[in-house]
Amino acid sequence: MSITKEIQKRRTIAIISHPDAGKTTLTEKLLLFGGAIQIAGAVKSNKIKKTTTSDFLEIEKQRGISVTTSVMNFGYKGVKINLLDTPGHKDFAEDTYRTLTAVDSVLLVIDCQKGVEMQTEKLMNVCRMRKTPVIVFINKLDREGRNPTELLDEIEEKLDIKVRPLSWPVGIGSRFKGVYNLFENSFSFFKVNKQKVEHEVEKITDLTDERLHELLNESADVLKHDIDLVNGIYGEFNNEEYLNGDAAPVFFGSALNNFGVRELLDTVIKIAPNPQGRDTTRGIIEPGSDKFSGFVFKIHSNLDPRHRDRIAFMRVCSGKLEKLKFYHHVRMNRKVRFANLATFMAQDKNAVEEAYPGDVVGLYDTGIFKIGDTITEGSQFMYKNIPTFSPEVFKELQLDDPFKSKQLEKGIMQLTDEGLAQVFTQTMGNMKVVGTVGDLQFEVLQHRLLHEYGAACHFRPLNYFKACWLKYESKADIDEMLKLRSFNLFYDKHKNLVFLPDSEYQLRYAREANPKAEFMFTMEHNTETVEMENAV
Ligand code: G4P
Repeated sequence: MSITKEIQKRRTIAIISHPDAGKTTLTEKLLLFGGAIQIAGAVKSNKIKKTTTSDFLEIEKQRGISVTTSVMNFGYKGVKINLLDTPGHKDFAEDTYRTLTAVDSVLLVIDCQKGVEMQTEKLMNVCRMRKTPVIVFINKLDREGRNPTELLDEIEEKLDIKVRPLSWPVGIGSRFKGVYNLFENSFSFFKVNKQKVEHEVEKITDLTDERLHELLNESADVLKHDIDLVNGIYGEFNNEEYLNGDAAPVFFGSALNNFGVRELLDTVIKIAPNPQGRDTTRGIIEPGSDKFSGFVFKIHSNLDPRHRDRIAFMRVCSGKLEKLKFYHHVRMNRKVRFANLATFMAQDKNAVEEAYPGDVVGLYDTGIFKIGDTITEGSQFMYKNIPTFSPEVFKELQLDDPFKSKQLEKGIMQLTDEGLAQVFTQTMGNMKVVGTVGDLQFEVLQHRLLHEYGAACHFRPLNYFKACWLKYESKADIDEMLKLRSFNLFYDKHKNLVFLPDSEYQLRYAREANPKAEFMFTMEHNTETVEMENAV
């Protein structure tokens, strides 16, 4: 099959939500429809429910499960869907943000009782930044929840995106009767059904169809009224707007009961974009290019601490990736060859011989990969827009046993390569500051440093406000900071200069005092940055 055909067949989608909205349940039901699993319960949640120290093993176990559940592929009506699950826990948000760089569209799950939650807003900000097309699934309609119009208004307002319902619920909770599909003029009756994938779909010609009344009684009038209103308020569904990330189609259903999932999936394969071109340091590379290229967006260490090997997740962006062929590792400027290419399916890893744009493959990594690495067939370009965000929590890394400093150094470097945390080294001394999105990562780090690298350490809380990467032309542009704020100046791992202000006030002051410098809360992993090592 030609590359073009392979590309047309594929959809690479991330599934995101605030924890507990039903992401795992929906994933499982999608897999059931795709025939990838036979029975509900086969997919484990990758969320981390508890956060106390005694749960480390639990955390580790769950992290392990998330390796295999984090990327899944299945076929549906001739389309190959690559579904990327994302950790819902906010402390692992950065992992989720990066996963969003590897997909072409997103499925956002919202709980009908809770509406738009904090994590939903944050995730949508990232989607908006990248103009990623989003489809919304409003879940748990079998429970008492909020009025659909109120929910849609909230989505528009809080997520700053136009919505267009493509299905409409009749009733909610105990009065929930089913969902009307506005795309196909069909009505699906709600039946409690947690295991099977079939449910009754009544085709009707339109809303004046007599059968609708027979089926729904007085609710039929309510539905007619609602649909008139919906069509009046939201107008025609515009596919262009969806593809540009300006409008989101919305579906209603109950993932637990397998309800509304088929409508969702049928629409996904019709409207979700297939693998798209991506920006590199040499401009956009189209997926149909005959030369292979891809980038690493996630690294996961082996669960077994005796084996230090890891799995690097690579998105194939262009051309065809083949086993045992020589490729070019751009950052290291060396040849690489993959003896094993793995794709993932729920708990299983499958070896494949080749992969195409949109596919996500797992590469056995002995430590040669970092997040953001580009692999090509020889060209010297890097994929762009793989961001690092400013951490929220900062702590000083302190070694307990001075004889273990080498182990600690190695451990912290490797673990931060995985994207678990970021490390900053003070330019004036040697203080190492670790920054993360949440406290849980410190516990995981401490545990892994001890168990995998034999380095006992602890963390001393610090009060930095944010990490700001500095962009400037010459040293004169940051003169004030070099003179007065040197204690707050750090290098990141790539020797970029980073300012860690103590407070928002201090940051504002520094901006005013150094007007020619740019202060950035995000940093791309792999754009060529000025070597700043000798700046200070
Ligand atoms: P997450 O991955 O987004 O964190 O959510 P997950 O699928 O784990 O779902 C969170 C809880 O919501 C689960 O209950 C799940 O069964 C429930 N749920 C998901 N979809 C629906 C739905 O359509 N209707 C109803 N009523 N509940 C739904 P739990 O009690 O936390 O876990 P479990 O014991 O059921 O596994």
